[in-house]
Amino acid sequence: MEPEAQEAAKQEVAEAAVQKVDPGRPLALGSGSTVLWVARALARRFASSPPPPLVVASRGVEEVCRQLGLPLSSLEEVQEFPLMLDGADEVDPHLDLLKGGGGALFREKLLARMSRELVILVDASKRVPRLGTRHPLPVEVVPFARPYVQKRMQALGLSASVRHRPESSQPYRTDNGNVILDGRLPEGPFDPRELDRALHEIPGVVETGFFLGMATEVLVAATPGNLETLRRGKESEI
Ligand code: A5P
Repeated sequence: MEPEAQEAAKQEVAEAAVQKVDPGRPLALGSGSTVLWVARALARRFASSPPPPLVVASRGVEEVCRQLGLPLSSLEEVQEFPLMLDGADEVDPHLDLLKGGGGALFREKLLARMSRELVILVDASKRVPRLGTRHPLPVEVVPFARPYVQKRMQALGLSASVRHRPESSQPYRTDNGNVILDGRLPEGPFDPRELDRALHEIPGVVETGFFLGMATEVLVAATPGNLETLRRGKESEI
């Protein structure tokens, strides 16, 4: 997909998703370029009426929301969300997700766990036959434990490399001050649930980019003007 077409698809799916937002209830937002389109669409939809309070999974998106005049809340004030809107790096046929390309996986997963509905917004290029097709699995790790976790990941069959800041030899740091190990998933068959469980048992692992059984709905911008809604065990057009 050409970058311009991809951005247009993200905008289209974001515009559709904000129609689901209840202005009277808090809204959780993930992170990434698709979520930035959601923030802009929210600012347009609520240009002349009060928008919902937002809790956002990354400082970067938080800053954009602030600039757009959207009200920010925090977990001090909100205990649960009726809805979370987020993007994903990969979506498989079971609606299991691979996320964390932007490094916000821990906060995204926390907010997703606090949300009754997790609606994922993607363009068609994000659909894959199995997780790991195009992206490594991001694993957020406490910096002190990084060498140990890296070895344990290798032992699980994940060749893992430290994520660096763009054009820098410095390790990338998450908003939580941790590092990311990007693990190449095995080419042969593997059970994501089993692998996720094994990774969580390693001391120093904060969170993984597997979002398994969490998405309630995936909105896909298939072709211009044509959005598909995927639900577990059911596929329909809107
Ligand atoms: C952020 O850490 C990720 O989980 C994003 O949700 C994911 O990378 C999708 O990003 P885009 O919306 O930029 O494609």
